[in-house]
Amino acid sequence: MNIASVHPLPPHIHYLNGHLCMEECSLEALAREHGTPLFVYSQAAMLNALGSYQRSLAGREHLICYAMKANSTLGILQTLVRAGCGLDIVSGGELERALAAGVAPERIIFSGVGKTRHEMRRALAVGIGCFNVESRAELDVLDSVAQEADTRAPVSIRVNPNVDAKTHPYISTGLKGNKFGIAHEDVVATYRHAAQCRGLRVVGIDCHIGSQITQTGPYLDAMDRILDLVQAIESAGVPIAHIDFGGGLGIDYNGDTPPAADQLWQALLDKLETRGFGDRKILLEPGRSLVGNAGVCVTEVLYLKPGEQKNFLIVDAAMNDLPRPAMYEAFHRIVPVAPRQDAPATWDVVGPVCESGDWLGRDRTLAVQAGDLLAVLSAGAYCMSMASNYNTRGRAAELLVQGEQVTVIRQRETAADQLRLESLLP
Ligand code: LLP
Repeated sequence: MNIASVHPLPPHIHYLNGHLCMEECSLEALAREHGTPLFVYSQAAMLNALGSYQRSLAGREHLICYAMKANSTLGILQTLVRAGCGLDIVSGGELERALAAGVAPERIIFSGVGKTRHEMRRALAVGIGCFNVESRAELDVLDSVAQEADTRAPVSIRVNPNVDAKTHPYISTGLKGNKFGIAHEDVVATYRHAAQCRGLRVVGIDCHIGSQITQTGPYLDAMDRILDLVQAIESAGVPIAHIDFGGGLGIDYNGDTPPAADQLWQALLDKLETRGFGDRKILLEPGRSLVGNAGVCVTEVLYLKPGEQKNFLIVDAAMNDLPRPAMYEAFHRIVPVAPRQDAPATWDVVGPVCESGDWLGRDRTLAVQAGDLLAVLSAGAYCMSMASNYNTRGRAAELLVQGEQVTVIRQRETAADQLRLESLLP
C-alpha cells in the first residue's frame, strides 16, 4: 500500500524503498542508533515554514518572534534565530534559554499573564525588546520594578479582541471568558495610564486569539478591532510604533487545511494597506506553524494486546512524551516506519504509563508486529516542550537532520539526571 498517496506526508518526510525517511536520513537507522522514543526534526521543514512568513513580509519593517513554548530545545532556537527570528518568551526559564541560544536581547518579547518581579528585573537588566502586558495590575508592578532599576520598560498591551478563533476551547485565547489580555473597552484608558508611568515606554499593541487556527476570518476580524483601537489610542495622544498579531496559525494534523502563512499574510497586509496602516512595523509570534510539521516521534511497538472489545498496541512512547492526545484529545497521524504487506487490524496505540488517558491514537488501521517502529507525525510542536517525567520516565532524545547530517540536540534523560536534584532524608 502506498501510504503517502492516501494522505500526503508532511514536507521532507517520505518513503524510500519501503522505509520512512526524513530528508536523507532513514528513521529506522536513527532509531537503531539512538534508541526510542526519539524525536527527529527536519531543519529544511522549519526553514521552509519560516520562509513562507518571510516572503510575505519582505520589504516591510517586521520581526518574527518564534513562540518558543512550542519547542524550546536550544538547537531548534538556534536554527530559527540564525534564520532571522526573534523569540517570544513566557517565563524566566525561557529567557535564559533564549539568551543561551544567542538571540539578541532586543529581539525578545515577553508574553504571559503572570510575570514575577524577579522575571521582570532580569528581563529589564538584559534589555529585552518589549513586555507584552496582560493586566493593569501587571502594568503597575512593571512600572515600579523599572523605576527601581532606574529605567523605562518598553511595553505593549495585549488586547483581548473578543473574537472566536474557532479552535479547541483550551487553546482559544481571544474571547471575553479567557484569562488573557485586557478587555477591548478598557484598552484606551490603560494606554493613557501607561503613557503617564515614569517607568514605562509605550512601544506597541498586541493580541493573540488562539492556536491551531485554520481560517483567515478570525484573523481579519481581530485585525479590524486592533486597528480601531490603534486609531483611538493615537487620537488620545499615545503613538503606537508596532502592531503584534500574535501566533496561532494551524497546521495539517489530519487533513486540516489552514491557509499558508504567505496567503494569510497577503490578506492581512491588504487590510493593513486599505486601512492606512501599511507603514507600521509588524510583529508576529508563530510557534506551531514553524515547527509542528517538521518533527516526528519514533516509537517501538513493545506488545500486541488484542482483546474482545479493543486491540491495544503498546508502544514505548507515552503521554509524558506526547501529551497532546491525553490533554486535548488531539489527533496525530501514526504511520509505520517500514510498512508490512500483512493484513492490517484496528488498534488503539497506547503507552506504558499507568493511566487510561495514556493513548497516542485510537482506532488506527495498522499492520504491525512487536519490535516494529512507528512514527507519530506532526510532533515538532507542543510535544517535547510539554513532556514530563511522569512515572519517572526519562525524556526522549532529540535529533536535528539537515540532508544526511544528524545532530543530537538533546540527549536521552537518564534516571540519574532525574534524581540529581533530590536528597534523601538525613
Ligand atoms: N503568542 C502567545 C501569546 C501564545 O500564548 C501562543 C501560544 C503563541 C504566541 C503561539 O501560538 P501558536 O502559533 O503556536 O499557535 N499546547 C497547545 C497549544 C498552546 C498554545 C499556547 N499559546 C497545543 O498543544 O495545542
